[in-house]
Amino acid sequence: MLRPRKEIQTISDYIPGKSIDEIKEKHKLSRVIKLASNENPLGTSPLAMAAYRECAQKLHLYPRGSAPELVKKLALKWKVKLENLIVGNGSDEILDLAARAYLNKSDYAVGAKSTFSVYASATLQTGAKYKGLALENFCYPLNGLLKFPKAKIIFVCNPNNPTGTFYSNKVIYKFLQKVPKNCLVVLDMAYAEYAGENEPPLNRWIKQFPNLLCTRTFSKLYGLAGLRIGYGIASANIINTLKKIKPPFNSNYPAQIAAAAALEDRDFIEKSLKMNVEGREHLTERLQGFGFEVLPSSANFVCTKIGKRAAELVAWLESKGVIIRQLSSFGLPEHVRITVGTKRENSTLIALLTYLFNK
Ligand SMILES: Cc1ncc(COP(=O)(O)O)c(C=O)c1O
Repeated sequence: MLRPRKEIQTISDYIPGKSIDEIKEKHKLSRVIKLASNENPLGTSPLAMAAYRECAQKLHLYPRGSAPELVKKLALKWKVKLENLIVGNGSDEILDLAARAYLNKSDYAVGAKSTFSVYASATLQTGAKYKGLALENFCYPLNGLLKFPKAKIIFVCNPNNPTGTFYSNKVIYKFLQKVPKNCLVVLDMAYAEYAGENEPPLNRWIKQFPNLLCTRTFSKLYGLAGLRIGYGIASANIINTLKKIKPPFNSNYPAQIAAAAALEDRDFIEKSLKMNVEGREHLTERLQGFGFEVLPSSANFVCTKIGKRAAELVAWLESKGVIIRQLSSFGLPEHVRITVGTKRENSTLIALLTYLFNK
C-alpha cells in the first residue's frame, strides 16, 4: 500500500465549519444561516466585486506571482517597503510557508492548544513537534510560551480563534521583547481589525524584531474568504526566505485585484465594523441573559460555555437552519463559537434559543 511520509500520518484532518448546502440537504431546509466560519455576514466588498468582474477578461493569463498592484497598496497602508510583504493563497499559506521554511525535524514550535489548528498541522507536516499549551484563563498563553526559549517558532493568535480574547499592542510589544531573536514569532492577526484598537506600528516592529512575521487576511473583514488571499509582513530576510519556497503563482489574479480594491472600500469596512460591534454586544447580552458565560470578544464571533449538552444544542440549531460551531476539535467540548451575523441572523438565533430555554 502506498503510504505518505510518517509525519503526515500524525496530522488530524482539518474540521471546517459545516456548509449551508450540507445542512440544507440533510434537514430538507430552504433557508440556512451560517454562523460557523467567521465570514463577513454582509458579503463581499462591492468595490472588490466590481474589480473581480473585470478580471474575467484576463483569466487566460497567469497572474504575476508577486501580486504587484496589491503589494504596492499594502506597502502604503503599512508604511513598509515592498520587500517586507508577501501575498499568499489565504494567510493559511503564509503559516504553511513559515513552518516549511524554518522548522527542522529536530525543532519544535509552540502555540496554544485551543487555537487555530493550522499552527499544529503546518508544524507537524515538517516533522517538527508542536507543543500546544493550555489557555491562561481563556487567554492565549503568552506567559507559558516564554518558558520555551528553545522553540523555533512561536505562534501567537491575537485575537485568538476560538475564544476572541485579545492582548493590546503594548502587551504584545512587551512579549516580543522577551522572545530570543533566533525564534520566529508568527503573529496571526486574522481578526485584528475587529479589536477596535489602533493598528500596531508594524513598520517599526519588523525593524526592531527581525524575527517577527505578522499574518493578515482578506477573508474576514473584507469578505473575500472564497477567493483565498492573505499576506505576511516581516523583515526582508524572512520575506525573501518565504518567497524561495512559495509556488510561483500562489495567489490568483482575481484575488489580487479584488483584495486591492477591497482595501479602499471605506464604506464597506465601516459598515462591517459597526454591524459587528452592535451584533457582538447584542449576542453577548442575550447569551448572558440565558445564564451562559460569554468570553469577552475582540473578534467577529463570540465564544460561550454551554456545558455538557453543547453538541446537542448545535445539532438542534442545525436542524432549525442555524449553523454554529461546537469546539471539541479545539479542546473545548463544552463551548461553542458563534459568528456575529446580520441583525436578522442574530435575531433568528436568539429567537430559537428563547424558544428552547423558554425565556
Ligand atoms: C486565526 C486564523 N488565522 C488564519 C486563518 C486563515 O485565514 P485565510 O482565509 O486567510 O487563510 C483563519 C481562518 O479562519 C483564522 O481563524
